Amino acid sequence: MSQDDPSFSFDRLVGKSQIFRDLIEKIKVVAQYDVAALITGETGTGKELAARAIHYNSPRKDQEFVVINCSAFSESLLESELFGYVKGSFTGAMAEKKGLFEAADKGTFFLDEIGDMSPALQAKILRVLQEGTYFKIGATSPVKVNVRVIAATNRDLRELIREGKFREDLYYRINVVSLHCPPLRERKEDVEVLTRHILANIAKKNQEPKKEISPGAMAILKKHDWPGNVRELENELEKAVIFSSEKKIVTEDSLSPDFLQRVQNRQTELLEEAAGAVSLKEIKRQAVEQIERKVIQRGLEKTNWNKTACAKLLRISRVDLIRKIARYQIRKGPF
Ligand SMILES: Nc1ncnc2c1ncn2[C@@H]1O[C@H](COP(=O)(O)OP(=O)(O)OP(=O)(O)O)[C@@H](O)[C@H]1O
Ligand SMILES: [Mg+2]
Repeated sequence: MSQDDPSFSFDRLVGKSQIFRDLIEKIKVVAQYDVAALITGETGTGKELAARAIHYNSPRKDQEFVVINCSAFSESLLESELFGYVKGSFTGAMAEKKGLFEAADKGTFFLDEIGDMSPALQAKILRVLQEGTYFKIGATSPVKVNVRVIAATNRDLRELIREGKFREDLYYRINVVSLHCPPLRERKEDVEVLTRHILANIAKKNQEPKKEISPGAMAILKKHDWPGNVRELENELEKAVIFSSEKKIVTEDSLSPDFLQRVQNRQTELLEEAAGAVSLKEIKRQAVEQIERKVIQRGLEKTNWNKTACAKLLRISRVDLIRKIARYQIRKGPF
């Protein structure tokens, strides 16, 4: 990134907000200490990227970084993936199978969605953390292993402990240090830099020149709450790039109708929520302003910023139009 760009990147993590910078600082520190770590955060907030950043900045960086998604397997399959088995340990075990703990030896093992692991397997992970040993399925003697465990979850482990679904002793073992990846709605300043970063990535992947984003489309992206976080932003931009009729720009029109509808619904919800706090008159005023702003923006775009023509089109006086442009701070974008 250029020097005058106030945004910030570390490995593949991009952002500029203070909470994002704090997270990066923490990742840098945690990387230096060879302890287990727990990464929390909603879906799509960058937990896996954070785990990778820890590994690739740690003394183990030249060793393996192994990932397993604990929610993607049944209990028995997960066990054989993690620990492997010896020949003849069950029908069908024709040969010995290596487990991922073996593959991760001397490196880092990223246990994703650890909250979905069964209590029986949790006990086996605890053994690895406490004693550095595990049993292959069907084996009678333990195997020694040296791994750094980084676990991640989007669930509330304390709540799972209360419900008896997560072992408290394991929680303390993996939570030696914890990092939280904040949701995008708590760091909206990052939406713009992330958008530019993602558009650059998409262009690279498609081997096409990078597309810019129009101010109108950007304003909509900033409005959204992003329940699916950075992954949702990536998905929307992928679609928008495909559907943008303009060669070099992603405009409002290229955003998917489904996405625009979701943003609109959320705006209505927010207005309704605000109804408890502000008067009906105020809500009406905000709604009118929102519409007016949009209509004027469109009118100006249509008339190529000819104010006389635009005033005529909108059937208001030119003076009125100029006043409103100033009031709503409508500016001519670079496009
Ligand atoms: N700060 C960031 N900068 C750049 N890209 C990011 C950032 N955070 C997340 N991403 C991108 O968003 C997507 C989701 O990130 P990642 O898989 O790390 O999230 P996660 O928290 O593990 O999600 P899930 O809970 O769904 O597994 C990835 O494609 C990743 O590259
Ligand atoms: Mg993940």
